[in-house]
Amino acid sequence: MDQTEIEKQAAADHAVQRIQDGMLLGLGSGSTSAYAIRRIGERVRQGLNVRGIPTSRHSEELAEAVGIPLTSFDEETRIDLTIDGADELTPQLQLIKGGGGAMLREKIVATASDRLVIIADSRKLVPALGKFQLPIEVLPFACPVVARWLRDLGGKPQLRSDADGKPVMTDQQNLVLDCDFGIIETPEELAAQLDRIPGLIAHGLFLRLASCAIVGRGTEILTIEREMERA
Ligand code: 5RP
Repeated sequence: MDQTEIEKQAAADHAVQRIQDGMLLGLGSGSTSAYAIRRIGERVRQGLNVRGIPTSRHSEELAEAVGIPLTSFDEETRIDLTIDGADELTPQLQLIKGGGGAMLREKIVATASDRLVIIADSRKLVPALGKFQLPIEVLPFACPVVARWLRDLGGKPQLRSDADGKPVMTDQQNLVLDCDFGIIETPEELAAQLDRIPGLIAHGLFLRLASCAIVGRGTEILTIEREMERA
C-alpha cells in the first residue's frame, strides 16, 4: 500500500473510533470514506449497533456488502455523526468536496448531522481553497446558462466527462461542471453567489459544516477541531 493509502486508512480508522453504540451515521463517499465504511462493517460484525445513511449509490452498495444496516430520511431526519472525505481542506475547516460527484447528498447529510468528521490524507490539507476545481451539480436543462453565469463570476467551468467523452451524470441524473476559480480568497462570498444561481443544484464549497478533520500525515495523525460547535 502506498503512503497516501496508508494515510487515508489511518485517518478513517481514527474517525471510526469516535463511533458509539446506537448512533445513526452518515456514510461519506470516495476512497477515504470507503476505508471508514469497511472498518464500520468490521465493527458491526463484532456487535456494534449502528445504522447508516449513505451519501451515494456507491457507498450504499459498499455498506450493504459489509453488513451495515441502512436507513433513510424517510425514517430519521437527524444524524449523530457523519464521516466523509474531502478534496481540499484548510486549517479553518473550509472544504472543497465533490470530486466523486456526490456533493448534493453529501451536503444534505452533513447539514443534517450533529457532527461532521472529515478524513483525509495529507495532500488534501491546503492553506487556501481553489487548486482543486470546484465541482458544481447542475440541472441538465440549465447547464449552458449556468456555465455562462459561472463565467460572469470569473470561473472557468468545464463539463465533467468520462473516459469515452460522455458527460458524467450524478446519482440524481444531473451534470457536473468543474469550475476553476483560481485560489478562492473569499469562499463565503463565492458560496453566497453560487447559492443564488437557479439551476445550480449544489456546489462543493462546504463551509461551517465540519466539526473536525482527521488527517493522516506520514505516521502521524493530525486532528483539527472546530473551536465552537455549530448550532
Ligand atoms: C465525493 C467527495 C469525496 O469525499 C472526495 O472526492 C474525496 O475523495 P477521496 O477520498 O477518494 O480522495 O467529496 O463527492
